[in-house]
Amino acid sequence: MINIAIDGPGGAGKSTIAKAAAKELGYIYVDTGALYRSVGLYALRKEVKTDSADEVVPLLSEISVELKFIDGSQRVYLNGEDVSEEIRTPEASMAASNVSAIQAVRDFLFDLQRNIAKENNCIMDGRDIGTVVLPNAQVKIFLTASAEERAKRRYLQLMEKGQEVKYEDVLKELQERDYQDSHREIAPLKPAEDSIIIDTSDINLEQSIDTVVNVIRERV
Ligand code: DC
Repeated sequence: MINIAIDGPGGAGKSTIAKAAAKELGYIYVDTGALYRSVGLYALRKEVKTDSADEVVPLLSEISVELKFIDGSQRVYLNGEDVSEEIRTPEASMAASNVSAIQAVRDFLFDLQRNIAKENNCIMDGRDIGTVVLPNAQVKIFLTASAEERAKRRYLQLMEKGQEVKYEDVLKELQERDYQDSHREIAPLKPAEDSIIIDTSDINLEQSIDTVVNVIRERV
């Protein structure tokens, strides 16, 4: 199977770019952040402290997370419930970042990610795909952009969806998550040694997609 890993900080456009590239190449697109978000959402619903391993780990035995691909588009199910939209709130983002620093949570979601990659040509995006989940991926891309540019894009996206947010809050939340995701002890966000770094700060969406597709085509 052809496996492409795309890692990078939140708001770098990974999901939009990876989704479009996957469509063009005929691969499935796997958004692994949705898995951590689902665990985070469950912990939020149970009103536990999402950054406490002692409180989060016992919940794992109550959780089943499943991904389904409908017309090439991913839906995520938490104990059978489609939570694909509900996991997108800023609270769920922070909860996801918190639970993702817990080793047992990462172990819990590991096989699911590996198995999808074993059975499908896919582009998988996340934080540790090239470094931990798919160290043998044929192509590894680290997609990034400046924090300000990422916050601007995320802000416009949320406004479009009708969510009332302030740019400053979006920027602060992104910076907090960046710090947390790249400074944690386990599977921190960092480019794999053999990854190709693409900075999208100064190129538009179309150019970013073309760059990613070309990088992949040249290598597989
Ligand atoms: O990609 P995202 O913003 O939806 O991810 C939400 C959080 O999940 C992110 O802050 C860190 C965590 N995550 C992770 O640790 N490893 C992954 N492969 C994907 C996401």
